[in-house]
Amino acid sequence: MNLKEVVKLADDLVFSRTGKHLNDLQEKILHGTWEDDDYKEIAKAVNLSEARVREVGMELWQTLSQELGKRVSKSNFRSTFSHFEQHHNQSSYMICGHTLYLTDIPNSTPSTEQKSNSKPTKTLHQDLSEMPELGDFYDRTPQLDTLTTWILQQHSRLITLTGISGIGKTTLAVQLVQQIKDEFEYVIWCSIDASHTPDEFEHKLIQFFSQSENLDLSATNPKRLPLIKYLQNHRCLIILDDVHNLFCSGELAGKYKPDYEEYRSLFKQIEKLSHQSCFLLIGWEQPREVTKVKSQNKPIRTLQLKGLDIAAAREILREYGLEEIDNTEALIHRYQGIPLWLKSVATLIEELGIDVTELLLDDTILLPEDLKEVLQQQYDRTSELEKQVMSLLARENQPVNLANLLEKGQLSSSDLLNALQSLSRRCWIEKQESLYTLPPVLKEYIKGL
Ligand SMILES: Nc1ncnc2c1ncn2[C@@H]1O[C@H](COP(=O)(O)OP(=O)(O)O)[C@@H](O)[C@H]1O
Ligand SMILES: [Mg+2]
Repeated sequence: MNLKEVVKLADDLVFSRTGKHLNDLQEKILHGTWEDDDYKEIAKAVNLSEARVREVGMELWQTLSQELGKRVSKSNFRSTFSHFEQHHNQSSYMICGHTLYLTDIPNSTPSTEQKSNSKPTKTLHQDLSEMPELGDFYDRTPQLDTLTTWILQQHSRLITLTGISGIGKTTLAVQLVQQIKDEFEYVIWCSIDASHTPDEFEHKLIQFFSQSENLDLSATNPKRLPLIKYLQNHRCLIILDDVHNLFCSGELAGKYKPDYEEYRSLFKQIEKLSHQSCFLLIGWEQPREVTKVKSQNKPIRTLQLKGLDIAAAREILREYGLEEIDNTEALIHRYQGIPLWLKSVATLIEELGIDVTELLLDDTILLPEDLKEVLQQQYDRTSELEKQVMSLLARENQPVNLANLLEKGQLSSSDLLNALQSLSRRCWIEKQESLYTLPPVLKEYIKGL
């Protein structure tokens, strides 16, 4: 390895350990050490005291030693690091017989040859005990294709899948997992509930990884590795469903509960550090910081799920014998192709023998009790600001613009904008160009409160 590669590797190791990249002085120390300069010479070059440079150097060797599980010092740095073997591609190194995956995995589609090389030959470990069983599954091909490309070809590290309750997030993810799970060495599905503190969650994952590694750990390194090491050393797929349970109720969307702040650093690490694994976060809300990064070359992706298309939604109505009615499409549009909403209203229509054509003619929106309950759970999570904006929108017959909302509401422009942003992240409002509106079902629900 040349100096540049060594500095990159050291930077990855330090980042993996501390979450921080090498600073200028640390880099200068590595350069100097590589050139066989002593601390005095390095200190002179950087115009600092020898004591200061020595102190920073000692800290650096300690961090590298901890991360490698092997003593690194100024005197053995060059010999240790020049013996690392970089192989196959930019992404892996041989260290003490172990393969470390530390640098960026290329974003491009792998060639057929690479693909077959990268297929795990090791045992597959899957804990899907918390994954729901899949019932009927109607077409979601475009969304499945998108997610599969992000995960398998672009090696995205963190993906969020959001959407209103009942839109089919969990169902889509189950189908996805069934299709791609064998591409991973480790797959685990975790349904997040109130008991999942950050520590417990991390412990659960490490437990899952280390259980299957008992043999490897016993001889050389009985200490459990930090979670990120597993994500670097193995290709893992980790699905977290119902992540809205990590966030506060009564606040704008995506604010961590006080005791759950550590999830922020965990997700940050997963995004920033080089590894070969993928976290899929599913829920009504997503972490606030995730929505900010949408650029194509980031290892992070967000998918806000919309309703089923007409053909797939028709299949749902078929289950209730309603596929042949006139104006099926109008019914599907009214309920936005949201499978749970369609199922709920179809049940009511079927049980009461309601004439759907009449129903559609007079713009009636049926809100069965079970649907109201589902909506209430999410409505209850919104902040006071959002509730004010929703009630403002519910009174409007037409989509309204910002100026109009400002005029009608008693809110400051920043409060209004924050509320609109949060509501749109929750998929509770729709925006067409610069006009905002509540979907008909939600409008009906809010009006009935
Ligand atoms: N693609 C689909 N095909 C058939 N049924 C679906 C589909 N997506 C969702 N459903 C049904 O809609 C309901 C809600 O789906 P679910 O995945 O639990 O929604 P979410 O996780 O977004 O709350 C479930 O009864 C599910 O079976
Ligand atoms: Mg779900």
